[in-house]
Amino acid sequence: MTHAAPPRPLRSAAAGPLKGQVRVPGDKSISHRALMLGALAVGETRVEGLLEGADVLATAAAVRAMGAEAERLADGSWRVAGRGVGGLQEPAGLLDMGNAGTGARLLMGLVAGHPITATFTGDASLCRRPMGRVTKPLEKMGARFQGREGGLLPMTVTGASNPLPIEYELPVASAQVKSAILLAGLNAPGETVVIEPEPTRDHTENMLRWFGAKVEVADLPQGGRRVALTGQPELTARPVRVPADISSAAFPLVAALLVPGSVVTLKDVGLNPLRAGLLTCLQEMGASIEVRNPREEAGEPVADLCVTAGPLRGIEVPADRAPSMIDEYPILAMAAALAVGETRMTGLGELRVKESDRLAAVARGLAAAGVTVEEGPDWLIVKGGAGRGPSGGNRVEVDLDHRIAMSFLVLGMVSRRPIEIDDAAAMDTSFPGFTALMNALGAKIEEAITA
Ligand code: S3P
Repeated sequence: MTHAAPPRPLRSAAAGPLKGQVRVPGDKSISHRALMLGALAVGETRVEGLLEGADVLATAAAVRAMGAEAERLADGSWRVAGRGVGGLQEPAGLLDMGNAGTGARLLMGLVAGHPITATFTGDASLCRRPMGRVTKPLEKMGARFQGREGGLLPMTVTGASNPLPIEYELPVASAQVKSAILLAGLNAPGETVVIEPEPTRDHTENMLRWFGAKVEVADLPQGGRRVALTGQPELTARPVRVPADISSAAFPLVAALLVPGSVVTLKDVGLNPLRAGLLTCLQEMGASIEVRNPREEAGEPVADLCVTAGPLRGIEVPADRAPSMIDEYPILAMAAALAVGETRMTGLGELRVKESDRLAAVARGLAAAGVTVEEGPDWLIVKGGAGRGPSGGNRVEVDLDHRIAMSFLVLGMVSRRPIEIDDAAAMDTSFPGFTALMNALGAKIEEAITA
């Protein structure tokens, strides 16, 4: 997908109390996986609550291009008809993954385990993100890659005719890399083993088991994990209910904590412990978040969150919490900007290679809004305004990054002057309808008229 449409600038101004009950769109990580495993399963997988954001729609198009059926039904659910493990066909055209790192990296794993060739491309953001982290282990399994200098997209992947099972220790804690290896390992004989230095989101493992594969997970003495998949299983289509995305719920959640007088309920939020680091931080900061009606759906814990505005205090966020909240640092930094005292975050190196350099983008945007911040190579310190919002009045270049866009729109709700973002388009990758949902709760986000 190219970025040809004219930019859509938005402005977020001080809001009255946010009130109401909402369900944010489906989990992006689980939605990608539901389409991919559905495409490999025997039979028809019915997916309810699939995220219909641009990232996931790119994955749907890619699995269709490889011979699976993936279609939206009249009731809003999705039907995926799979081809069986090893049954994907070579796509005729380019696989354009748009902005989606997860879609690109996981599908590279899928292709790597099939005797087919596919060329991946994406938008300007995806084409600057490192792919060597997935190509290196997948090469050991027998796949071949030809990309741009530095291992960047566009890249052609030729999968292995007889993929080899490997044991691979991840140099960085990354669920995407772990998942790419496991997906390639599905078509390899024997055990494919991934050792992760710290546990990362385990949706792939959970869903593989849900579809009938054998995945064994053992905790390691230093805190990491060993994940072992038995190859060449028959995956059987199973219904999947996708929970609301905690990474999207994070925006109305923090907005409700910050805007005085707010009370908001977020329905059906996925609370996988390996995704819930933001909740731990906010609770340590003194936030009032009540977890109601906890339950399990398709192997994932889910609950409703009732959030009440109130004062927050600065905290120290330990580096080893990063994998469980890697996408939530931008919005945590906005909460920190209103807290009493300083918030120190460490272990943030991976933020530099997300949809944008999020560490730099957060530090730059906060400073422009009048917040005192200090940025290091992999750390950030935010000095809180003790409940007093920053001056605002700035415009943030979101650089094709949805979470930077939504984070600063939340900050605008508590700033003395409105905050603008230069382009709303990126938000559609993970949170279509963000503006309408926030405004229905009481936010004041509107189109910014530019000169
Ligand atoms: C994801 C893993 C994380 C996260 C991304 C989604 C996934 O990336 O940032 O938004 O679905 O596996 P890394 O694997 O690069 O940490």
